[in-house]
Amino acid sequence: MAELSVEPHLFVILGATGDLTRRKLLPALFHLRTYGELEKQNTLILGAAQPEMSEEAFRLWAYESLNKSGARNAPDLRRWCNESLHYQSVSHGELEDYERLGKYIWQLESTRNLPENRVFYLALPPTAVPTAVERLSQACLLKSRGWVRVVFEKPFGHDFRSARALNTLLHRYLDESQIYRIDHYLGKETVQNLLAFRFANPIFESLWNRDSVECVQLTVAEDIGVEHRGAYYNEAGALRDMVQNHLTQLVTVVAMEVPVSFDADAIQAEKLKVLHSIPPINPRDIVFGQYRAWEFDGQRIPGYREEKGVPPDSWTETFVALKLEIHNWRWRGVPFYLRSGKRLPRKITQVAVTFRPAPTLVFRSLDPGSLEPNQLVITLQPSEGFSLAFSVKTPGRPFSFTNRALQFDYKQAFGGELPEAYETLLRDVMIGDQTLFVTAEFTETAWRLYDPLLAVKRDPAFYTAGTWGPIEADQLLERYGHRWQLGW
Ligand code: BG6
Repeated sequence: MAELSVEPHLFVILGATGDLTRRKLLPALFHLRTYGELEKQNTLILGAAQPEMSEEAFRLWAYESLNKSGARNAPDLRRWCNESLHYQSVSHGELEDYERLGKYIWQLESTRNLPENRVFYLALPPTAVPTAVERLSQACLLKSRGWVRVVFEKPFGHDFRSARALNTLLHRYLDESQIYRIDHYLGKETVQNLLAFRFANPIFESLWNRDSVECVQLTVAEDIGVEHRGAYYNEAGALRDMVQNHLTQLVTVVAMEVPVSFDADAIQAEKLKVLHSIPPINPRDIVFGQYRAWEFDGQRIPGYREEKGVPPDSWTETFVALKLEIHNWRWRGVPFYLRSGKRLPRKITQVAVTFRPAPTLVFRSLDPGSLEPNQLVITLQPSEGFSLAFSVKTPGRPFSFTNRALQFDYKQAFGGELPEAYETLLRDVMIGDQTLFVTAEFTETAWRLYDPLLAVKRDPAFYTAGTWGPIEADQLLERYGHRWQLGW
């Protein structure tokens, strides 16, 4: 856990005029400069993209984009854009375009006396990634006297075979230690805190197993629809877009064994063991849903099939609920329920751990169902914190119980905004820490788990926008004697 520092380097963004750069990368890079490290260490940012535009025009575009974001009032915004940002067009991505990019990289490195340390951030559509890596290699940009790290955005393939093919291609040009696959959920402060919570607080660790836990639920709900990404989403669906990556990462963080150290290798190894311990998911234990329009009192939320880029007869799922098990010493017999969907009532990411009831009912006169189980709810967003629910005696007579919770609210305790996931992840790339990134083996193993479900995918059940998904998702849990829980 020793603090590594950022070495001088060139941070090259391929796809520098796109949405991801504007919304996430530039704000994160700008915030990182507040620690002083980037400037002091002589870090330059080089945008590369198709449009032919001058460096001045790129700086202005970046300035205007940042101005619309949280950086609005920063006094040094203009100066930062002028001093730190550079631009080179890669036109149609031919070899000579990359050679031109190479010349500019070498020029910047020699005039600024940089040690040929390079990050290449591929903010590109998935289809453009293989060629971009090949071109970078052909233009001799992946070999240098310093270090070279390449960052990839999801999706990492759309099934096991394509993920393996992509990894094989990447490994032709890069060592796994140079590859940073981003799952932005791992960069969220509260996901990291989940690790801290588990491994720094032994009171919970001793209960974190099949003896004490009845079931674990993970909810990643969004109130938004597919927005401007209809065409992409319609190809992907919720299982590929959210479950294979973000939710599966969360499951492994919740379920992993205590690693021997807080190092990337130790943590990755434990997460992978969890994934290997998940037996095939029974197709009866998965529910697919798709949202339909909601209308009330003159107001209307359009259905999925009315979204831009979505065919009117689409059967793509916008909701998934499933049950999986983990067949290891710690978890065998404890169901893990996962659900994720768009156009649900609110945005919330939550892990709810329900503990087993007392072995005998001391309060015999009570109706057996009237005591709620103890529950630990960890909210990862938007109001980050924990709550631990337990039963207390309701004052007075007759003797009865009420469920109350001990609560911890991250923002109340520490104030202010939590760091953005991209800020954490970009800094980790710069310091060479792979703890919060996805390995080739993890992504392939996760696809192996979900491929059979993609193959037997049934038509989704409909749910009305603004509800918690189709009724079948509730029935899935009822079959096992549980119900969906959402904490505070
Ligand atoms: C992305 C998905 O990976 O995560 C999107 O492609 C989804 O469909 C987004 O909206 C959710 O991220 P967050 O950080 O807003 O929970």
